[in-house]
Amino acid sequence: MVYITRRFNFSASHRVYNPSLSDEENFKIYGKCSNPNGHGHNYIMDVTVAGEVDSKTGFVMDLSELKGIVTSSIIKKVDHRNLNTDVDFMNGVLPSTENIAIKFWEQIEKKINTDKRKLHSIKIQETVNNSVEYNGKK
Ligand code: NI
Repeated sequence: MVYITRRFNFSASHRVYNPSLSDEENFKIYGKCSNPNGHGHNYIMDVTVAGEVDSKTGFVMDLSELKGIVTSSIIKKVDHRNLNTDVDFMNGVLPSTENIAIKFWEQIEKKINTDKRKLHSIKIQETVNNSVEYNGKK
């Protein structure tokens, strides 16, 4: 099994809050991330695919194909957008990095997986110190 990874960058804003809680409770849980007017991050995302090396191409997956899938399914929809209000597949989802990783996974898994290769992980870095990794298992 060989693992290949492509890195993506996007900038997006969000407000991390649970609408069923008061502003005070939200601030207790999410701190300044729940500030009413939102804030932005320059996210870094690593998408990893695991598979067999194809004997003809020498690739697990053509990285330009991976780039195309992730760009059209995710990056074009989220870059320079508000994750609370502007992204169809984030509708009603609390935009924590954990939930962002899960929803991103759902957008690309079926487009990547074949008999020979599987989406292995999505790692999203929100800040230099904070990142989340999801591998699709509940
Ligand atoms: Ni934030």
